[in-house]
Amino acid sequence: MPLIAPSLLSADFLNLQSDITMLNESQADWFHLDVMDGRFVPNISFGLPVIEHIRKATTKICDVHLMILEPGNYAEAFKKAGADVLTVHLEACPHLHRNLQQIKALGMKAGVALNPHTPVHLLSDIIHEIDLVCLMSVNPGFGGQQFIPHTLEKIRTLKKMITEKQLHTLIEIDGGVTLQNAPSLVAAGADVLVAGNTVFRAQDPTATIAALKAC
Ligand code: DX5
Ligand code: ZN
Repeated sequence: MPLIAPSLLSADFLNLQSDITMLNESQADWFHLDVMDGRFVPNISFGLPVIEHIRKATTKICDVHLMILEPGNYAEAFKKAGADVLTVHLEACPHLHRNLQQIKALGMKAGVALNPHTPVHLLSDIIHEIDLVCLMSVNPGFGGQQFIPHTLEKIRTLKKMITEKQLHTLIEIDGGVTLQNAPSLVAAGADVLVAGNTVFRAQDPTATIAALKAC
């Protein structure tokens, strides 16, 4: 069964408490929190104070996806704010090994996200240091975009790399995940499905989370 990580980006920002309560009572496993700096991606979302408050309200694992430059400068602050998983972008990290060591030394799981154009083989010499690979299946920056089909091939290649090296690295898919494409993602090797619009724009978000989980 995949882990389901609804994304806060599509929640109702004026009624976060009710969305968080819904998630707490649902089969969701993680809460996906997208931080954007307006530099690495062409959008600005939310930051530390919001995550600090969500941490107090949610019973789920806080999966923080940093779409920011120089994420190492903020790793400690995100740990203090309550991040359990901290994911940085390969494209934003010239010293990725150092970033991963720092995140793990702070007691968080270390994730690496890849943009749609970034080949998974770039991880072959660092994969054993990574707890989670987040494959972006849209260009990062916005919720509600169309899934890029080539991601399926990337999942298979990455799964093969992880299996061959006998690692336990999780594969997370982020962007355009729907009830329709979720089964093929899981069949290809996805372990964690992020879902923003699919969950929060649904008539029945709780049932939608359960349906994703059953994929
Ligand atoms: C996009 C974010 C995603 C986003 C996914 O940059 O990283 O996590 O919230 O939203 P949906 O599921 O609507 O594509
Ligand atoms: Zn994300």
